Amino acid sequence: MPGSRAASQPVCALILAAGRGKRMKSGRVKLLHQLAGAPMIRHVARAAASLSPSILGAVVGSQASEVEAALSSDGFAARTGLRFVVQEQQLGTAHAVLQSESIFSEVKRGGLLLIINGDVPLVRASTLRALVKHHRRTGATATVLTTVVDDPSGYGRVLRDADGAFVSIVEHGDATAAQRRITEINAGLYCADLSVVFEALRRTSRGNAQGEYYLPDLFPILRGQGRRIEAYSHPQAEEVLGVNDRAELARAGKILYIRRAMELMESGVTIVDPDCTYIEPEVVVGRDTVIHPMAHLQGRTRIGSGCLIGASVHVTDSTVGDGTVIRDMCVIAESRLAKGVVIGPFAHLRPGTVLLEGVHVGNFVETKKTKLGRKSKANHLAYLGDAEIGHGVNIGAGTITCNYDGVNKNPTILEDGVFIGSDSQLVAPVKVGKGAYVGAGSTITKDVPAYALALSRAQQRNIEGWVKRRSAKSAGKNRGKA
Ligand code: UD1
Ligand code: CA
Repeated sequence: MPGSRAASQPVCALILAAGRGKRMKSGRVKLLHQLAGAPMIRHVARAAASLSPSILGAVVGSQASEVEAALSSDGFAARTGLRFVVQEQQLGTAHAVLQSESIFSEVKRGGLLLIINGDVPLVRASTLRALVKHHRRTGATATVLTTVVDDPSGYGRVLRDADGAFVSIVEHGDATAAQRRITEINAGLYCADLSVVFEALRRTSRGNAQGEYYLPDLFPILRGQGRRIEAYSHPQAEEVLGVNDRAELARAGKILYIRRAMELMESGVTIVDPDCTYIEPEVVVGRDTVIHPMAHLQGRTRIGSGCLIGASVHVTDSTVGDGTVIRDMCVIAESRLAKGVVIGPFAHLRPGTVLLEGVHVGNFVETKKTKLGRKSKANHLAYLGDAEIGHGVNIGAGTITCNYDGVNKNPTILEDGVFIGSDSQLVAPVKVGKGAYVGAGSTITKDVPAYALALSRAQQRNIEGWVKRRSAKSAGKNRGKA
């Protein structure tokens, strides 16, 4: 009974990522091109890893170290146990799979191998599961995932016999005119029994249009051995389409953004125009948050519930607490915003910014490695860098922390309740003690004691009648000239 072998059967996965990708017309290999915030290969690897395979492998070759780096960043390879094998020469997809034999040798007989082309960034974990399920249910030795498309050019076509049973795959370059009219294509996703797959792949040859060892040749070989082969026809073509050129890259990126927007709307987020909103796959957004057009939410960003994200806001790798308002045109990176914070419009929060509850940061304020305590305000035109700012501090318009002396970055400390008058410069390292005031227009170079008033501007002098005297003088000069 085919179904009964299922439960204990370990599933392994292998990603083919050694190819070059000529049709991108690029100095970089295809799989490193970015869509929806990550290299193409990373989307594929994420889907594969979410199945928690017993062993996860990737075959690398062209620009191997860059591809390995793309799969290793943020601890991805370490976290998923991803193992790399190198295909020195790219002699075809069958040859690529053969390079990985050693990493799967420890899996006991009866294991399955999912093989995934690296250029299908839209593939979902659920689709891979459906492929494995079909393979198990039918008791096949090898199964290919197929789908029907309007324009099949470039793909391997699926050949079936008169009864509709799957026979083999013919590559576009090797197909006859009649075969090229077939619209059912090989999506480049396979499931095969580990016990036979490598032995069968060793029998593939290069006698074809591309002079390569073709992975799909596995099927006629197994069939010739009297084994069962299957084609699992997947209804959603969009999910399994390969990306081969830049137009397909853009289209796939768009689909990934729309997909995340749909998921978030389903979970209770309002997205004013999902066609013009760019939320990357791993971004989390709480319910009743409203997101306006052209927002870019990127990387590991987490937005709380009941927030407002204005138009053209960019948030990267940041956390935003519940009920926080980010008005139009703000740029925020690697920052932490607590609940009830109000930002912008036009605020720039650079890495290391921490804003506690109730903070207000207004237009044309830039922060970097700066913490603002509860209810502190910097509402207009300021630069706050390397600053530790306490609770209830008021920072006037035009305040600048002069944090860089040409060699080192120095800290500015503003204790609780401090008031900094407009157009002040705080020349770091410097500290303003609790409750102290700095008069507008001051250049503060020395620490200010708690509850003191610091003033450093020049004394004002009023010269009475000066304007009238000047006018009379210049009138006299002009008469002389006439
Ligand atoms: C392949 C299939 C084709 C299928 C299509 C789906 C073969 C022979 N053909 O064609 O039937 O319709 O995918 O998108 O498999 N790779 C290596 N090493 C190599 C060659 C390729 O690792 O030596 C990797 C590539 O990086 C890529 C994947 O294998 O991720 C597929 O290679 P690609 O050249 O894109 O195959 P297609 O011609 O699209
Ligand atoms: Ca391809």
